[in-house]
Amino acid sequence: MKQSTLLVLNCLADGCFHSGSEIGDAAGVSRAAIWKQLQKLIDIGLDVESVKGKGYRLVGGFEPLERCSIQRGLSVECAALVSEIDLHAEIESTNVNAMKRIAAGNAKGYLCLSESQSSGKGRRGRHWVSPFGHNIYLSFVWEFDGGANQLEGLSLAVGVEVAKVLIACGLQGVALKWPNDILLNGRKLGGILLEMSGDPAGVCQVVIGIGLNVRMNKNMAIDQPWASVSEQLASVSRNKLVSGVLNRLVPMLNTYGSLGFSSYQALWESLDVYRGKKVTILSGNTSIKGVACGVYANGSLRLLVNEEERPIYGGEVSLRLEDDT
Ligand code: BTN
Repeated sequence: MKQSTLLVLNCLADGCFHSGSEIGDAAGVSRAAIWKQLQKLIDIGLDVESVKGKGYRLVGGFEPLERCSIQRGLSVECAALVSEIDLHAEIESTNVNAMKRIAAGNAKGYLCLSESQSSGKGRRGRHWVSPFGHNIYLSFVWEFDGGANQLEGLSLAVGVEVAKVLIACGLQGVALKWPNDILLNGRKLGGILLEMSGDPAGVCQVVIGIGLNVRMNKNMAIDQPWASVSEQLASVSRNKLVSGVLNRLVPMLNTYGSLGFSSYQALWESLDVYRGKKVTILSGNTSIKGVACGVYANGSLRLLVNEEERPIYGGEVSLRLEDDT
């Protein structure tokens, strides 16, 4: 983003109306050029309102992600485990950046955050809609030295920790959908994408990618029902949310290798939105119908099919309520 556009954004960040000349003075641009700058903000998904006689305002204001603010919110334990905070305005994908950082070496504790992603990655090759300045897109790198089987259930445990943070903030109706969707009253609030690198039998690095809709613009075209934190918590701070997530996530990762998923199984099941419901598991062209009965100690789904239970593993499958398929 160009400096002049950033200056216009800073001027409007308080969410109040500002006249054209006020914006022009703050950004060092002529009155004639202001509309071009405002259009750039609109193009990246920000909600700019113009009212005759009042001027322009950014609906809901704008709180930039700030390294200092995030650092201030970290617990002593967490801060000691975060080695770098890499903050971007625009990026392809924070997960892609984190994988590149792993390839460069010494990435344990690396945190990548961005105000927007041009190619945000979702599960199963899907696109994660990532407009500027509204949400949280973060990727954190951790290293495990006991092989990939130590990681069983990790994405579900991450979901539990994120859900706990949201519940502690006061959100009502937070639930989890296997394998790693975070829901708010049945609509998608966030998603988790883990990517792995290294030796599956030895030292491996994991990128924990978390996308959370905080203040998603209501005009965004998203192909499924979605929710935002701001529906219930209008003035929520993204910086505080990021610190809150890290304060739970990072210490959990530090002990996950020895504790594993079993300590999360009951917690995950207590948040499971589809427990006891008829569901369909889709994998490529095949589908299996059954009843969701919670998860096994390795994080696979317990699916009751013709009175027989069988495990369903994450990866490329997706789960739907039977009535929705
Ligand atoms: C899903 O499909 O539910 C998973 C979505 C994960 C999105 C996050 S946003 C931050 C990180 N970077 C990415 O490109 N994807 C993850």
